[in-house]
Amino acid sequence: MTVKNVTDEYYMRRALSLAWRGLDEARPNPMVGCVLVQEPDRVVGEGWHARYGGPHAEAAALADAERRGENVRGATAYVTLEPCSHFGKTPPCAPRLVEEGIARVVAGSVDPNPKVAGRGLEILRNAGVQVSAPCLEGECKRLNRGFFRRHTLNRPWVTLKAAVGLDGRMALPSGESKWITGETARTWAHLLRAEHDGVLVGVGTVLADDPELTVRHTCGKSPLRIILDSGLSIPPAARVLRGKCLVLAAEGDEAKQKTLERVGAEICRLPGKGGHVDLGAALGELARRGVQCLMVEGGPKVLSAFIEAGLCDLLTLFTAASVMGEGPGLGSGLRFDFMGDAIRLREARSRRAGDDLLVEGIFECSPAL
Ligand SMILES: NC(=O)c1ccc[n+]([C@@H]2O[C@H](COP(=O)([O-])OP(=O)(O)OC[C@H]3O[C@@H](n4cnc5c(N)ncnc54)[C@H](OP(=O)(O)O)[C@@H]3O)[C@@H](O)[C@H]2O)c1
Repeated sequence: MTVKNVTDEYYMRRALSLAWRGLDEARPNPMVGCVLVQEPDRVVGEGWHARYGGPHAEAAALADAERRGENVRGATAYVTLEPCSHFGKTPPCAPRLVEEGIARVVAGSVDPNPKVAGRGLEILRNAGVQVSAPCLEGECKRLNRGFFRRHTLNRPWVTLKAAVGLDGRMALPSGESKWITGETARTWAHLLRAEHDGVLVGVGTVLADDPELTVRHTCGKSPLRIILDSGLSIPPAARVLRGKCLVLAAEGDEAKQKTLERVGAEICRLPGKGGHVDLGAALGELARRGVQCLMVEGGPKVLSAFIEAGLCDLLTLFTAASVMGEGPGLGSGLRFDFMGDAIRLREARSRRAGDDLLVEGIFECSPAL
Protein backbone atom coordinates (compact mmCIF):
# COMPACT_ATOMS: atom_id res chain seq x y z
CA MET A 1 0.00 0.00 0.00
CA THR A 2 1.35 3.45 -0.91
CA VAL A 3 1.21 5.90 1.98
CA LYS A 4 0.58 9.48 0.85
CA ASN A 5 3.09 11.94 2.22
CA VAL A 6 1.07 15.13 2.59
CA THR A 7 4.14 17.36 3.04
CA ASP A 8 5.80 15.94 -0.06
CA GLU A 9 2.63 16.49 -2.11
CA TYR A 10 2.30 20.04 -0.80
CA TYR A 11 5.78 21.04 -1.98
CA MET A 12 5.44 19.07 -5.19
CA ARG A 13 2.32 21.10 -5.99
CA ARG A 14 4.33 24.27 -5.44
CA ALA A 15 7.05 22.90 -7.78
CA LEU A 16 4.36 22.10 -10.37
CA SER A 17 3.01 25.64 -10.29
CA LEU A 18 6.54 27.02 -10.73
CA ALA A 19 7.16 24.68 -13.66
CA TRP A 20 4.26 26.23 -15.63
CA ARG A 21 6.20 29.51 -15.79
CA GLY A 22 8.39 27.89 -18.45
CA LEU A 23 5.42 27.39 -20.79
CA ASP A 24 6.47 29.88 -23.47
CA GLU A 25 10.23 29.47 -23.54
CA ALA A 26 11.27 26.04 -22.21
CA ARG A 27 9.97 23.96 -25.12
CA PRO A 28 11.01 21.55 -26.54
CA ASN A 29 12.65 20.95 -23.17
CA PRO A 30 10.21 19.87 -20.48
CA MET A 31 8.74 22.37 -18.02
CA VAL A 32 10.27 21.61 -14.63
CA GLY A 33 9.90 23.22 -11.21
CA CYS A 34 12.04 22.79 -8.09
CA VAL A 35 11.60 23.78 -4.43
CA LEU A 36 14.36 23.45 -1.80
CA VAL A 37 13.12 22.96 1.74
CA GLN A 38 15.03 22.91 5.04
CA GLU A 39 13.54 21.17 8.06
CA PRO A 40 11.13 22.08 9.49
CA ASP A 41 9.19 23.33 6.50
CA ARG A 42 11.21 26.36 5.42
CA VAL A 43 11.54 27.09 1.70
CA VAL A 44 15.12 28.21 1.04
CA GLY A 45 15.10 28.30 -2.76
CA GLU A 46 12.74 27.99 -5.72
CA GLY A 47 13.35 27.74 -9.43
CA TRP A 48 12.01 26.57 -12.76
CA HIS A 49 13.37 25.84 -16.21
CA ALA A 50 12.66 29.21 -17.76
CA ARG A 51 14.04 28.89 -21.29
CA TYR A 52 15.35 26.29 -23.70
CA GLY A 53 19.12 25.94 -23.24
CA GLY A 54 18.97 27.91 -19.96
CA PRO A 55 19.62 26.64 -16.41
CA HIS A 56 17.54 23.70 -15.29
CA ALA A 57 15.05 24.10 -12.43
CA GLU A 58 17.46 22.59 -9.86
CA ALA A 59 20.25 25.03 -10.82
CA ALA A 60 17.77 27.93 -10.77
CA ALA A 61 16.57 26.94 -7.27
CA LEU A 62 20.16 26.63 -6.00
CA ALA A 63 20.95 30.09 -7.45
CA ASP A 64 17.83 31.45 -5.73
CA ALA A 65 18.99 29.99 -2.38
CA GLU A 66 22.39 31.60 -2.87
CA ARG A 67 20.75 34.97 -3.60
CA ARG A 68 18.72 34.63 -0.40
CA GLY A 69 21.91 33.75 1.53
CA GLU A 70 20.45 30.37 2.52
CA ASN A 71 22.33 27.16 3.29
CA VAL A 72 21.09 24.19 1.23
CA ARG A 73 23.17 21.45 2.88
CA GLY A 74 20.85 18.80 4.28
CA ALA A 75 17.81 20.24 2.45
CA THR A 76 15.15 18.31 0.53
CA ALA A 77 14.79 19.08 -3.18
CA TYR A 78 11.31 18.68 -4.68
CA VAL A 79 11.62 18.36 -8.46
CA THR A 80 8.75 17.64 -10.85
CA LEU A 81 10.99 15.53 -13.12
CA GLU A 82 13.95 13.28 -12.31
CA PRO A 83 17.18 15.35 -12.15
CA CYS A 84 19.21 14.79 -15.32
CA SER A 85 22.38 12.74 -15.45
CA HIS A 86 23.89 13.83 -18.78
CA PHE A 87 25.68 16.85 -20.22
CA GLY A 88 23.33 18.65 -22.62
CA LYS A 89 23.26 22.41 -23.02
CA THR A 90 23.93 22.62 -19.26
CA PRO A 91 25.83 20.39 -16.78
CA PRO A 92 23.92 17.45 -15.21
CA CYS A 93 21.74 18.22 -12.19
CA ALA A 94 21.94 14.96 -10.21
CA PRO A 95 25.72 15.25 -9.47
CA ARG A 96 25.22 18.97 -8.74
CA LEU A 97 22.61 18.19 -6.06
CA VAL A 98 25.05 15.68 -4.51
CA GLU A 99 27.85 18.31 -4.55
CA GLU A 100 25.61 20.86 -2.87
CA GLY A 101 24.89 18.43 -0.03
CA ILE A 102 21.17 17.92 -0.70
CA ALA A 103 20.07 15.14 1.68
CA ARG A 104 16.81 14.06 0.05
CA VAL A 105 15.28 14.34 -3.42
CA VAL A 106 11.57 13.91 -4.09
CA ALA A 107 11.03 13.49 -7.85
CA GLY A 108 7.64 13.80 -9.53
CA SER A 109 8.37 11.16 -12.14
CA VAL A 110 11.19 9.34 -13.90
CA ASP A 111 12.52 11.13 -17.02
CA PRO A 112 11.42 9.23 -20.17
CA ASN A 113 14.40 10.60 -22.13
CA PRO A 114 16.58 7.52 -22.81
CA LYS A 115 19.64 9.63 -21.94
CA VAL A 116 18.32 9.81 -18.35
CA ALA A 117 15.62 7.12 -17.72
CA GLY A 118 16.40 6.45 -14.07
CA ARG A 119 20.14 7.20 -14.20
CA GLY A 120 19.67 10.54 -12.41
CA LEU A 121 17.98 8.85 -9.46
CA GLU A 122 20.65 6.14 -9.47
CA ILE A 123 23.45 8.75 -9.19
CA LEU A 124 21.65 10.28 -6.21
CA ARG A 125 21.04 6.94 -4.46
CA ASN A 126 24.62 5.81 -5.05
CA ALA A 127 25.85 9.01 -3.42
CA GLY A 128 23.74 8.35 -0.32
CA VAL A 129 20.98 10.85 -1.11
CA GLN A 130 17.55 9.64 0.04
CA VAL A 131 15.25 9.40 -2.99
CA SER A 132 11.45 9.33 -3.01
CA ALA A 133 9.78 8.87 -6.39
CA PRO A 134 7.27 9.17 -7.88
CA CYS A 135 5.23 11.87 -6.17
CA LEU A 136 2.06 13.26 -7.83
CA GLU A 137 3.19 11.31 -10.87
CA GLY A 138 -0.01 11.83 -12.88
CA GLU A 139 0.13 15.63 -12.53
CA CYS A 140 3.87 15.73 -13.21
CA LYS A 141 3.51 13.66 -16.38
CA ARG A 142 0.49 15.66 -17.58
CA LEU A 143 2.55 18.84 -17.26
CA ASN A 144 4.85 17.53 -20.01
CA ARG A 145 2.51 15.17 -21.83
CA GLY A 146 4.01 16.02 -25.23
CA PHE A 147 7.55 15.36 -23.97
CA PHE A 148 6.42 11.99 -22.58
CA ARG A 149 4.60 11.08 -25.82
CA ARG A 150 7.60 11.95 -27.98
CA HIS A 151 10.01 9.89 -25.90
CA THR A 152 7.74 6.89 -25.45
CA LEU A 153 5.71 6.74 -28.71
CA ASN A 154 7.76 8.94 -31.05
CA ARG A 155 4.74 11.11 -31.80
CA PRO A 156 3.32 14.31 -30.32
CA TRP A 157 0.47 14.52 -27.82
CA VAL A 158 -2.52 15.04 -30.13
CA THR A 159 -5.41 17.30 -29.13
CA LEU A 160 -8.41 17.33 -31.46
CA LYS A 161 -10.23 20.64 -31.19
CA ALA A 162 -13.50 21.62 -32.83
CA ALA A 163 -16.40 24.01 -32.51
CA VAL A 164 -19.76 22.28 -32.91
CA GLY A 165 -23.47 22.83 -32.50
CA LEU A 166 -25.48 20.62 -30.15
CA ASP A 167 -25.93 18.17 -33.01
CA GLY A 168 -22.17 17.86 -33.50
CA ARG A 169 -22.11 19.77 -36.79
CA MET A 170 -18.91 21.63 -37.61
CA ALA A 171 -20.17 23.61 -40.63
CA LEU A 172 -23.30 24.27 -42.67
CA PRO A 173 -23.71 22.55 -46.04
CA SER A 174 -22.56 25.82 -47.65
CA GLY A 175 -19.24 25.42 -45.82
CA GLU A 176 -19.93 28.35 -43.52
CA SER A 177 -18.63 27.82 -39.97
CA LYS A 178 -17.93 31.35 -38.72
CA TRP A 179 -18.77 31.66 -35.99
CA ILE A 180 -20.33 28.66 -34.30
CA THR A 181 -19.22 29.68 -30.80
CA GLY A 182 -18.88 33.03 -29.04
CA GLU A 183 -15.94 35.25 -28.22
CA THR A 184 -15.04 33.57 -24.91
CA ALA A 185 -14.71 30.18 -26.56
CA ARG A 186 -12.64 31.66 -29.40
CA THR A 187 -10.27 33.40 -26.98
CA TRP A 188 -9.99 30.16 -25.00
CA ALA A 189 -9.14 28.31 -28.21
CA HIS A 190 -6.31 30.80 -28.82
CA LEU A 191 -5.00 30.14 -25.30
CA LEU A 192 -4.99 26.44 -26.11
CA ARG A 193 -3.13 27.12 -29.35
CA ALA A 194 -0.41 28.88 -27.38
CA GLU A 195 0.04 25.73 -25.26
CA HIS A 196 0.77 23.64 -28.35
CA ASP A 197 3.88 23.55 -30.55
CA GLY A 198 1.96 22.92 -33.73
CA VAL A 199 -1.54 23.60 -35.07
CA LEU A 200 -2.75 21.43 -37.95
CA VAL A 201 -5.64 21.62 -40.43
CA GLY A 202 -6.40 19.90 -43.71
CA VAL A 203 -6.29 21.75 -46.99
CA GLY A 204 -10.13 21.68 -47.04
CA THR A 205 -10.17 24.16 -44.15
CA VAL A 206 -7.63 26.42 -45.85
CA LEU A 207 -9.74 26.46 -49.02
CA ALA A 208 -12.98 27.12 -47.11
CA ASP A 209 -11.87 29.55 -44.40
CA ASP A 210 -8.43 30.91 -45.32
CA PRO A 211 -7.44 30.88 -41.61
CA GLU A 212 -4.30 32.48 -40.15
CA LEU A 213 -3.90 29.89 -37.37
CA THR A 214 -2.01 32.33 -35.14
CA VAL A 215 -2.47 33.32 -31.49
CA ARG A 216 -4.20 36.71 -31.65
CA HIS A 217 -6.98 37.02 -29.07
CA THR A 218 -4.56 36.49 -26.19
CA CYS A 219 -0.84 36.63 -25.43
CA GLY A 220 1.36 33.63 -26.10
CA LYS A 221 3.48 32.22 -28.87
CA SER A 222 1.93 31.17 -32.17
CA PRO A 223 2.62 27.49 -32.84
CA LEU A 224 4.05 26.12 -36.08
CA ARG A 225 1.30 26.01 -38.70
CA ILE A 226 0.92 22.68 -40.44
CA ILE A 227 -1.29 21.85 -43.42
CA LEU A 228 -2.14 18.33 -44.54
CA ASP A 229 -2.27 18.73 -48.29
CA SER A 230 -1.64 15.46 -50.12
CA GLY A 231 -1.58 16.92 -53.64
CA LEU A 232 -0.23 20.46 -52.94
CA SER A 233 -3.47 22.22 -53.78
CA ILE A 234 -3.06 25.03 -51.25
CA PRO A 235 -3.23 28.43 -52.99
CA PRO A 236 0.08 30.37 -52.74
CA ALA A 237 -1.93 33.42 -51.57
CA ALA A 238 -3.36 31.56 -48.54
CA ARG A 239 -3.04 33.65 -45.38
CA VAL A 240 -1.53 30.75 -43.45
CA LEU A 241 1.51 30.94 -45.75
CA ARG A 242 2.33 34.48 -44.61
CA GLY A 243 4.16 33.08 -41.57
CA LYS A 244 6.21 29.94 -40.92
CA CYS A 245 4.16 27.09 -42.35
CA LEU A 246 4.88 23.44 -43.00
CA VAL A 247 2.92 21.71 -45.76
CA LEU A 248 2.80 17.92 -45.46
CA ALA A 249 2.26 16.42 -48.90
CA ALA A 250 2.28 13.00 -50.51
CA GLU A 251 2.37 13.90 -54.18
CA GLY A 252 1.98 17.08 -56.26
CA ASP A 253 4.34 18.22 -58.98
CA GLU A 254 7.69 19.97 -58.66
CA ALA A 255 6.34 23.20 -60.22
CA LYS A 256 3.65 23.50 -57.50
CA GLN A 257 6.26 22.84 -54.84
CA LYS A 258 8.58 25.55 -56.23
CA THR A 259 5.72 28.09 -56.33
CA LEU A 260 4.84 27.38 -52.70
CA GLU A 261 8.47 27.51 -51.62
CA ARG A 262 8.82 30.91 -53.31
CA VAL A 263 6.16 32.29 -50.95
CA GLY A 264 8.02 30.83 -47.96
CA ALA A 265 6.24 27.51 -47.35
CA GLU A 266 8.25 24.47 -46.35
CA ILE A 267 7.11 21.34 -48.14
CA CYS A 268 7.71 17.93 -46.63
CA ARG A 269 6.97 14.85 -48.72
CA LEU A 270 5.63 11.87 -46.81
CA PRO A 271 4.28 8.46 -47.74
CA GLY A 272 0.62 8.32 -48.75
CA LYS A 273 -2.04 5.97 -47.42
CA GLY A 274 -5.50 5.57 -48.94
CA GLY A 275 -4.91 8.55 -51.25
CA HIS A 276 -3.95 10.97 -48.44
CA VAL A 277 -0.89 11.79 -46.37
CA ASP A 278 -0.20 8.91 -43.96
CA LEU A 279 -1.01 10.26 -40.50
CA GLY A 280 1.42 7.96 -38.67
CA ALA A 281 4.25 9.19 -40.88
CA ALA A 282 3.09 12.79 -40.41
CA LEU A 283 3.18 12.49 -36.60
CA GLY A 284 6.60 10.80 -36.68
CA GLU A 285 7.94 13.65 -38.82
CA LEU A 286 6.45 16.29 -36.52
CA ALA A 287 7.97 14.62 -33.43
CA ARG A 288 11.35 14.57 -35.21
CA ARG A 289 10.99 18.30 -35.76
CA GLY A 290 10.35 18.91 -32.05
CA VAL A 291 6.55 19.26 -32.19
CA GLN A 292 5.58 17.63 -28.89
CA CYS A 293 2.02 18.94 -28.52
CA LEU A 294 -0.10 19.14 -31.62
CA MET A 295 -3.54 20.74 -31.85
CA VAL A 296 -5.58 19.41 -34.77
CA GLU A 297 -8.19 22.03 -35.58
CA GLY A 298 -10.06 20.25 -38.30
CA GLY A 299 -11.98 20.15 -40.42
CA PRO A 300 -14.29 17.16 -40.18
CA LYS A 301 -12.39 14.94 -42.63
CA VAL A 302 -9.06 15.36 -40.89
CA LEU A 303 -10.58 14.94 -37.40
CA SER A 304 -12.32 11.73 -38.48
CA ALA A 305 -9.09 10.47 -40.01
CA PHE A 306 -7.20 10.98 -36.72
CA ILE A 307 -10.01 9.30 -34.76
CA GLU A 308 -10.17 6.37 -37.19
CA ALA A 309 -6.39 5.89 -37.04
CA GLY A 310 -6.50 5.93 -33.21
CA LEU A 311 -3.87 8.69 -33.25
CA CYS A 312 -5.47 11.10 -30.82
CA ASP A 313 -5.27 11.78 -27.10
CA LEU A 314 -7.59 14.58 -26.06
CA LEU A 315 -10.85 15.91 -27.47
CA THR A 316 -11.59 19.57 -26.81
CA LEU A 317 -15.04 20.40 -28.06
CA PHE A 318 -16.44 23.90 -27.84
CA THR A 319 -20.17 23.28 -28.05
CA ALA A 320 -22.62 26.05 -28.89
CA ALA A 321 -26.20 25.91 -27.68
CA SER A 322 -27.48 25.75 -31.26
CA VAL A 323 -28.89 23.20 -33.66
CA MET A 324 -27.13 23.50 -37.01
CA GLY A 325 -29.06 20.87 -38.98
CA GLU A 326 -27.44 19.38 -42.09
CA GLY A 327 -23.70 19.71 -42.55
CA PRO A 328 -20.46 17.83 -41.87
CA GLY A 329 -19.84 17.04 -38.22
CA LEU A 330 -17.49 15.49 -35.74
CA GLY A 331 -17.16 11.85 -36.74
CA SER A 332 -18.59 12.37 -40.25
CA GLY A 333 -17.55 9.45 -42.42
CA LEU A 334 -17.13 7.08 -39.47
CA ARG A 335 -19.65 4.27 -39.26
CA PHE A 336 -20.21 1.74 -36.53
CA ASP A 337 -22.71 -1.10 -36.55
CA PHE A 338 -22.65 -1.72 -32.81
CA MET A 339 -22.79 0.69 -29.89
CA GLY A 340 -19.84 -1.15 -28.41
CA ASP A 341 -17.72 0.04 -31.33
CA ALA A 342 -18.48 3.74 -30.79
CA ILE A 343 -15.49 5.92 -29.91
CA ARG A 344 -15.49 6.57 -26.19
CA LEU A 345 -13.77 9.10 -24.00
CA ARG A 346 -12.59 8.70 -20.43
CA GLU A 347 -12.32 11.42 -17.79
CA ALA A 348 -14.99 13.35 -19.71
CA ARG A 349 -15.98 16.68 -18.22
CA SER A 350 -17.69 19.86 -19.24
CA ARG A 351 -17.26 23.49 -18.29
CA ARG A 352 -18.85 26.75 -19.30
CA ALA A 353 -17.05 28.86 -21.88
CA GLY A 354 -19.11 32.05 -21.95
CA ASP A 355 -22.43 31.14 -23.57
CA ASP A 356 -20.96 27.86 -24.85
CA LEU A 357 -19.79 24.63 -23.23
CA LEU A 358 -16.33 23.15 -23.33
CA VAL A 359 -16.55 19.35 -23.36
CA GLU A 360 -13.27 17.51 -22.92
CA GLY A 361 -12.17 13.93 -22.58
CA ILE A 362 -9.30 11.55 -23.23
CA PHE A 363 -9.79 9.16 -26.16
CA GLU A 364 -9.90 5.52 -25.13
CA CYS A 365 -7.16 4.79 -27.67
CA SER A 366 -4.80 7.20 -25.87
CA PRO A 367 -2.24 5.13 -23.93
CA ALA A 368 -1.44 6.13 -20.35
CA LEU A 369 1.48 8.54 -20.14
N1 LIG B 1 -16.21 23.94 -36.65
C1 LIG B 1 -14.93 23.74 -36.68
O1 LIG B 1 -14.27 23.59 -35.63
C2 LIG B 1 -14.21 23.70 -38.01
C3 LIG B 1 -12.81 23.63 -38.04
C4 LIG B 1 -12.19 23.56 -39.27
C5 LIG B 1 -12.94 23.54 -40.44
N2 LIG B 1 -14.29 23.63 -40.37
C6 LIG B 1 -15.12 23.62 -41.57
O2 LIG B 1 -14.91 22.36 -42.21
C7 LIG B 1 -15.07 22.53 -43.61
C8 LIG B 1 -13.86 21.91 -44.32
O3 LIG B 1 -13.94 20.53 -44.11
P1 LIG B 1 -12.91 19.48 -44.66
O4 LIG B 1 -13.26 18.20 -44.01
O5 LIG B 1 -12.83 19.56 -46.12
O6 LIG B 1 -11.53 20.09 -44.12
P2 LIG B 1 -10.21 19.41 -43.62
O7 LIG B 1 -10.49 18.19 -42.85
O8 LIG B 1 -9.44 20.49 -42.96
O9 LIG B 1 -9.44 19.04 -44.96
C9 LIG B 1 -9.72 17.85 -45.62
C10 LIG B 1 -8.65 17.56 -46.61
O10 LIG B 1 -7.41 17.28 -45.94
C11 LIG B 1 -6.61 16.54 -46.84
N3 LIG B 1 -5.91 15.46 -46.19
C12 LIG B 1 -4.58 15.20 -46.27
N4 LIG B 1 -4.27 14.11 -45.60
C13 LIG B 1 -5.41 13.65 -45.06
C14 LIG B 1 -5.69 12.51 -44.28
N5 LIG B 1 -4.76 11.64 -43.89
N6 LIG B 1 -6.97 12.29 -43.92
C15 LIG B 1 -7.95 13.16 -44.28
N7 LIG B 1 -7.73 14.26 -45.04
C16 LIG B 1 -6.46 14.49 -45.43
C17 LIG B 1 -7.57 15.93 -47.85
O11 LIG B 1 -7.26 16.46 -49.13
P3 LIG B 1 -5.95 15.94 -49.91
O12 LIG B 1 -5.82 14.49 -49.64
O13 LIG B 1 -6.21 16.28 -51.29
O14 LIG B 1 -4.85 16.71 -49.35
C18 LIG B 1 -8.94 16.36 -47.42
O15 LIG B 1 -9.82 16.64 -48.46
C19 LIG B 1 -15.22 24.01 -43.87
O16 LIG B 1 -16.58 24.27 -44.02
C20 LIG B 1 -14.72 24.64 -42.60
O17 LIG B 1 -15.31 25.88 -42.36
C21 LIG B 1 -14.95 23.71 -39.17
